[in-house]
Amino acid sequence: MARKRKNIDRFPQSSEPPRKKRVSTTPLPDGVHHYQEVDEVPCDLQKYWHQGYSIFSKYDAGIWMTDDAWYGVTHESVANKIALHMAEVAPPKRSIIIDAFCGVGGNTIAFALSGKWKRVYAIEKDAATLACAKHNAEIYGVADRITWFHGDCFEILGASGKTEKTVEALTAITGQFGVIFASPPWGGPGYRTADVFDLESMQPYSFSYIYDSFKKLTPNQVLYLPRTSDLRQIAARVERGKKTQIVHYCTNGTSRALCAYLGDWAPLKL
Ligand SMILES: C[S@@+](CC[C@H](N)C(=O)[O-])C[C@H]1O[C@@H](n2cnc3c(N)ncnc32)[C@H](O)[C@@H]1O
Repeated sequence: MARKRKNIDRFPQSSEPPRKKRVSTTPLPDGVHHYQEVDEVPCDLQKYWHQGYSIFSKYDAGIWMTDDAWYGVTHESVANKIALHMAEVAPPKRSIIIDAFCGVGGNTIAFALSGKWKRVYAIEKDAATLACAKHNAEIYGVADRITWFHGDCFEILGASGKTEKTVEALTAITGQFGVIFASPPWGGPGYRTADVFDLESMQPYSFSYIYDSFKKLTPNQVLYLPRTSDLRQIAARVERGKKTQIVHYCTNGTSRALCAYLGDWAPLKL
C-alpha cells in the first residue's frame, strides 16, 4: 500500500500549472486521476499541481497520478539528469537497470529515454501507482523498453528472505548485468526540519535495510535520498579503500535531493 507521506515536499518551487484541456475519455482505474482544473485537485495537492509541467512536461497528454504520487514523484528535469549521469558512469558490463520503487514512472521513463539500458525493470507495490507508471510510459513512447512488476521489490528481487514472490530470472540477471536505482519513501520524523537527517530513521525502510538488501544482488546501486541525509551513515557502508560519490540534484539553485552512487561507478565529470 502506498504510504501517505504528508509533509514530504521534494520540489516546493512553483512553475507553470497545467493547461486545462480534456485529453482523454478513457475511464481511469480506481485511485488514479488526471486533474485538469485546479478545483478538482484536493487542497493539500494544489501547490504540487501548480508545479505542472516541471513534473511531467507531457502532463497535458493525459498523465495519470495517484494523490500520494504528487508528493514523491521525481521531477522530469532531475530524473533526466540522474539518468544521464547513471548512463555516463555505469559500471562495466552493466546493461540493465532496476527501478525498485518506480512510483508513477518519473525515473523509469527517464532511464528508458536515455537509451543506455538494454532493458528497464520497474517494480511498484501499489497497483494504482503502477497503472499510472505504465500509462505514463506509453505517453512518453517508451513502454516497450520496460518490464513491470507489481509487488514488494525486496520480495521480487529475492532480498527479503521470503521466496514465494521472488522472480528468479530477474534476480539472476540483476546479479550478473544489473544496477539498482532506488527512490524509496522518505517517511519518518524530522526529515524536513533536521539539519542532518538520520537515515536510519527513514520509514518504512532505513537506508541500511535498503542498501544491505539490494547488496545481496549487486553492490551497484544509486539511492535517491533527502538532501540533508547524514553522509557519515552512507560513508560507513562504503568498503574500506573505496570511494563513493554523492551528487546533489538542484532546481532553481537549491538542492532537492541527493544521489549516493554506491559500487563501481566511474567518477562523474560534473
Ligand atoms: C518516492 S516514491 C517513488 C517515486 C518515483 N521515483 C517516481 O518518480 O514516480 C516511492 C514509491 O515506492 C513504492 N513502494 C513502497 N514500498 C515499496 C516496496 N517495498 N516495493 C516496491 N515499491 C514500494 C510506493 O508505493 C511509492 O510509489
